[in-house]
Amino acid sequence: MPRIEYVLPDGGVHEAEVPSGQSVMEGSVRNNLPGIVAECGGSCSCATCHVYVDEAAQAKFDEASDEERELLEFSEGARPDSRLACQLIITDACDGVRVTVADTNG
Ligand code: FES
Repeated sequence: MPRIEYVLPDGGVHEAEVPSGQSVMEGSVRNNLPGIVAECGGSCSCATCHVYVDEAAQAKFDEASDEERELLEFSEGARPDSRLACQLIITDACDGVRVTVADTNG
């Protein structure tokens, strides 16, 4: 099962096993990790699942949709490497990926 490393807002790192087909957001919520609020439940409308993902890791996920890009544009703390964790669907290729949880998720 793919292992995802979550760098938490307090700087701690938590590794979680997340089944392929689930999102990075679901992996966080199901492991009770702090920092990803996921208010909208994954429907790409709240941006409280904001994470930073470096370029190499981003290549392992589908590109951001226009909807995701627009939402991120208006998000606090947005950077070029910003993504919404609910839109990052995990595959076996994502094993070892590290995501940094934004500290602006509420
Ligand atoms: S959970 Fe709401 S946008 Fe990701």
